[in-house]
Amino acid sequence: MIITVTLNAAIDRSLSVTSFRLGRRHRPVDQTTMAGGKGVNIARALKRLDQPVIATGFAGGSTGTRIVEQLTQESILNDFVRIGEESRTNVAVFDPTNGQTTEVNERGPAVTEVEIGLFCDKLLYLARSAAVVVFAGSLPRGIEPDIYAALIRDVRKLGVQTVVDTDGEPLHHAVRAEPDVISPNVLEAEELVGHEFNDEEDRAIAVREMVNLGPREAIMTLPDGCIACVQDGGERRLVRVWVDPREVVAGVGSGDAFLAGFVASRYGGRSIDEALRYGVACGAESTGRLGAGLIDPRAVDRLYGETTVEHLTPTAGVG
Ligand SMILES: Nc1ncnc2c1ncn2[C@@H]1O[C@H](COP(=O)(O)OP(=O)(O)OP(=O)(O)O)[C@@H](O)[C@H]1O
Ligand SMILES: [Mg+2]
Repeated sequence: MIITVTLNAAIDRSLSVTSFRLGRRHRPVDQTTMAGGKGVNIARALKRLDQPVIATGFAGGSTGTRIVEQLTQESILNDFVRIGEESRTNVAVFDPTNGQTTEVNERGPAVTEVEIGLFCDKLLYLARSAAVVVFAGSLPRGIEPDIYAALIRDVRKLGVQTVVDTDGEPLHHAVRAEPDVISPNVLEAEELVGHEFNDEEDRAIAVREMVNLGPREAIMTLPDGCIACVQDGGERRLVRVWVDPREVVAGVGSGDAFLAGFVASRYGGRSIDEALRYGVACGAESTGRLGAGLIDPRAVDRLYGETTVEHLTPTAGVG
């Protein structure tokens, strides 16, 4: 069983608006409204890949009820802690004429100490029957930024693998708790290591730097694949995976689809290279759809064959 944690779950409205311009009135040519937040998107993609998954986190007010109902309608098992304040609603506008996305994400509800305590108990209960826990996304208000770090330590004591996809302060804390995998995108990785990357060599150095901060493995997703510092038979090695960039219908959630594919494949017993390629294929597949986590496994299998993998030579003097 895989558990996905979404502390700041949301209702995500995705609108496709041609020639979107600030200050103008528009009508969408397409739209979807779905339960969201990174962990929820990952759960949806895992369900599509026929993986056993439970989505947990906080859900509050009528928006929280809607999140739970939508997940249940999609047959995604879920077990959320109900909270007093209202869960958030996010809006993303995709412009098919230029491939650009504009996101407006609410900060989310405030969560009380008691609600946090209930969640920690629930997660540790659920994790007892899990192989992997995926912590993903931002934190609602009132939660200390080291919550993922604390939960990673607790979950690991149960012998369960931990995967983290977040950014900023929660990520800084989380890496020190030595999770098994982190998977930031380029901006998130630059913020974590504290400098910008200008070329492939910088990115190769960066994934090793990230591993030196604590996690066992670090994957940086890129618009054309990923680069990762992974463990193989006790040795660290660098892997780069490519796919030809596709025309994007909606880019939001491609990192979530990547991570779902990687987790499904890796903890399904495939090799690290296969898991990275499968993740990249899932990320690429999801860019063709409006609505995060919506992937078609048959299309993913086709794209898998279009991925290429390269083992990079470690850069001298780093890690
Ligand atoms: N245009 C594209 N064509 C093919 N694959 C893409 C494209 N854009 C992204 N991907 C794939 O999706 C994966 C994740 O991409 P990216 O780094 O943009 O995620 P992200 O910024 O974390 O997204 P989000 O957080 O919204 O889910 C990458 O591994 C990449 O291979
Ligand atoms: Mg991401």
